[in-house]
Amino acid sequence: MKTFNDPKKLQRWAAAQRLAGKKIALVPTMGALHEGHLSLIAAAKKKGADEIVVSVFVNPTQFGPKEDYAQYPRDHKADAAKCRAAGATAIFFPTPENMYAPDHSVWMVEDGALSGSLCGARRPGHFRGVCTVVAKLFNLTHPNFAVFGQKDYQQATIIRRMVRDMNFDLEIVVAPIVREPSGLARSSRNAYLSDAERESALALSRALQKLKKLTAEGPRPWKALQRETWIALDRAGLRTDYVEAVNADTLAPVRKLDKGVVVLLAAYAGKTRLIDNAVM
Ligand code: PAJ
Repeated sequence: MKTFNDPKKLQRWAAAQRLAGKKIALVPTMGALHEGHLSLIAAAKKKGADEIVVSVFVNPTQFGPKEDYAQYPRDHKADAAKCRAAGATAIFFPTPENMYAPDHSVWMVEDGALSGSLCGARRPGHFRGVCTVVAKLFNLTHPNFAVFGQKDYQQATIIRRMVRDMNFDLEIVVAPIVREPSGLARSSRNAYLSDAERESALALSRALQKLKKLTAEGPRPWKALQRETWIALDRAGLRTDYVEAVNADTLAPVRKLDKGVVVLLAAYAGKTRLIDNAVM
């Protein structure tokens, strides 16, 4: 497995691989890798990638001033070992300094149609940072496809739209959410949870399971279920941030819970903000 720190070196290497006819997959991450991230490498392998590039970069521009940029877990050694074992062929560890010029001034911005709700509404500038860094990573790795997780549903939807609207010549693959045996969606931020918070956090996946079961029996008005779900999360000891049901492609809110609708949840367990979602 190759290791790159310098964006220019990665870009030259990736261009040479493309020229040689290799199929390149990009797996962007912020590190503290877990089974969820490794499933994206597995998906890239399954798609027949010759080169699988994992980027590990805690991207400062997608964190708000009061968010956890400084505390975000970082462990390059463990991440490299996990990537190698999972079959990645290259890993990229840039620094904020070599990714962003001191006078960096051009950004990739979604106009609000997709980023104006859900996490985008609560984390101003978050998706501007995400889209910008992902566009940079696309330009650095020349991928045939890039793999994202359904765990961050709004992010995957916005990246897909960016690829369409900006004519990036690559395919977006979205892989299913990997969960702990308890049902808790795997996340680097789960490392912040105390035992009690971890127990409370189970309410998220439980609520989604319950809604899925109900929807399987037929469509239902959403408003009452939204209220019920909100209360169930709060009762479990979480501080609910949002409970939304949206169209899977446009992220527009729906009035009826039905098959194909996506339910997205965000809630705080203590100071840790957790998200989860499910397609009904
Ligand atoms: P990060 O939170 O590290 O996630 C990297 C990728 O792993 C994302 O595509 C995310 O959806 C996926 N992922 C995380 N947990 C998962 C799980 N339990 N199951 C399946 N996939 C999971 O998302 C980011 O980093 C950043 O915003 C990034 C795209 C790298 C841009 O900085």
